[in-house]
Amino acid sequence: MVEDAYVLGHSKQELRRLILQAENLRPITTRLLRDAGLEPGMRVVDLGCGVGDVALLAAEIVGPTGTVIAIDRNTTAIITARARASAAGHANIEFIEGNVGEFVASGTCDLAIGRYVLVHQSDPVALIRAAATHVRPGGTVAFHEVFLVGTWWSYPLIGLWQQTSELINRAFGSVVTHPDAGTRMIEHFQNAGLPQPTLFSETPVGGGPDSPLYRWAAETLRTLLPRAEEVGLVRAGEIDIDSLEDRLRQGVTAVHGQIGFAHQHCGWAKI
Ligand SMILES: C[S@@+](CC[C@H](N)C(=O)[O-])C[C@H]1O[C@@H](n2cnc3c(N)ncnc32)[C@H](O)[C@@H]1O
Repeated sequence: MVEDAYVLGHSKQELRRLILQAENLRPITTRLLRDAGLEPGMRVVDLGCGVGDVALLAAEIVGPTGTVIAIDRNTTAIITARARASAAGHANIEFIEGNVGEFVASGTCDLAIGRYVLVHQSDPVALIRAAATHVRPGGTVAFHEVFLVGTWWSYPLIGLWQQTSELINRAFGSVVTHPDAGTRMIEHFQNAGLPQPTLFSETPVGGGPDSPLYRWAAETLRTLLPRAEEVGLVRAGEIDIDSLEDRLRQGVTAVHGQIGFAHQHCGWAKI
């Protein structure tokens, strides 16, 4: 059985953060979907769809002659995703509430994709195996994951950016079971009995006053702050979270700096 360990919950704030995050990840996931061979008319399954951003992206690519199935075990996420798909005019996405590991899959999809799900599994290999049961012979299994270890980078070194990234990753490290799943796809695919995946990595990079990275970082830490306090990484009230986005912007622009966000790791294999 694949266990859901989505520890960040599904509050309104977290659902908004997932949408903000998805806007930033869109070009990278689009590259993965294209590299993995997604084309108009295909049938796709999105595993752990959250509020539906990968499903919406896939629906744009497969078009009206294709189909997308999107699965998440959280009711609020599924209701939100369904409403967003309907507002966007996508009638070809079917949203299903359930645990991916308990789903009886038909093995008829051309592509199974999961984004930011392996890091949350107690057993990432089981989720990859479950993904493969959705896919026809010759179809593709693909994952887009984030590396949640260590710090991100900045040049010149910007203390607040470094501290923020370290705190985010330490807080994630205290709740997610596999913060390194994105860098272990070869091992995990192999243990799931799948061929070695084709891999690429991208890092969102920015700077200047208009970069979306300050907000993404600040909102991510906002979600994690209760946990960071609970496990003693910071004291209650120590971080002024409401001003963090602006403080990051000021810190980076004051030195004409350039910053990198968490590394994104993508992998796909034909089965
Ligand atoms: C970080 S969110 C990512 C959402 C979406 N893939 C995206 O990139 O925007 C992880 C989602 O996966 C869901 N999830 C995790 N494990 C699951 C499982 N085993 N079965 C169904 N849903 C799962 C959680 O409920 C959560 O909504």
